[in-house]
Amino acid sequence: MPTAATVPYKPANRCKFTAKAIEKRILETYPVIIQGLKTNCERFVWQDVSTPDELGKKRLSAMKLFLADFEQGLKQERYLNQELPNLNFASKQLALTLCSHLLFTYSEQFSDNFHLRAIQEMCRVAQEVRIFPLLENFTGEISCHLEPVKKELEQSNYQVKVVSVDYEFQKKGNQMLVIKRTKNAH
Ligand SMILES: C[S@@+](CC[C@H](N)C(=O)[O-])C[C@H]1O[C@@H](n2cnc3c(N)ncnc32)[C@H](O)[C@@H]1O
Repeated sequence: MPTAATVPYKPANRCKFTAKAIEKRILETYPVIIQGLKTNCERFVWQDVSTPDELGKKRLSAMKLFLADFEQGLKQERYLNQELPNLNFASKQLALTLCSHLLFTYSEQFSDNFHLRAIQEMCRVAQEVRIFPLLENFTGEISCHLEPVKKELEQSNYQVKVVSVDYEFQKKGNQMLVIKRTKNAH
């Protein structure tokens, strides 16, 4: 029979926020986000969704689905509380890591170095990494971190491509960075 000394310690999959706290934050920020969309509405493509209010309703209903599943998902470890630039996975454990609306989007808040460390960490744990979009938040400009990061990754023998996608909500925001491990990647 295993004893306390032989069973590896596995901390519970805790999140620093409860579903209630997340819901409170969502409701606080909701009017700010919708107002931001209205003020900057010419920067977005209103095709699949026609107005900021319609988008707001869709997002709120997605958030409700997420919150209803949150506690159960934590218990089942479908949601893991982790933070870039460090991920608690073994090297090459995952087939794919996706990062959306964080890296490149928050170019002002995160440095070149943070972008590189975060992407190298995603490359460490996965065979393929995809990051979307490549624009700096609300500007319509390609992130200033894109070229330096691409150069470093290419020098480490990763295959790096900018790929166009069908989804475009931020105008010109229809490009994704795809990074693949090669045999010689390091
Ligand atoms: C603008 S939201 C994007 C959410 C979602 N990925 C999407 O595209 O709709 C940015 C997300 O990044 C998360 N975030 C912030 N800092 C992070 C970090 N260092 N590592 C991982 N996620 C982080 C935030 O908690 C937030 O959920």
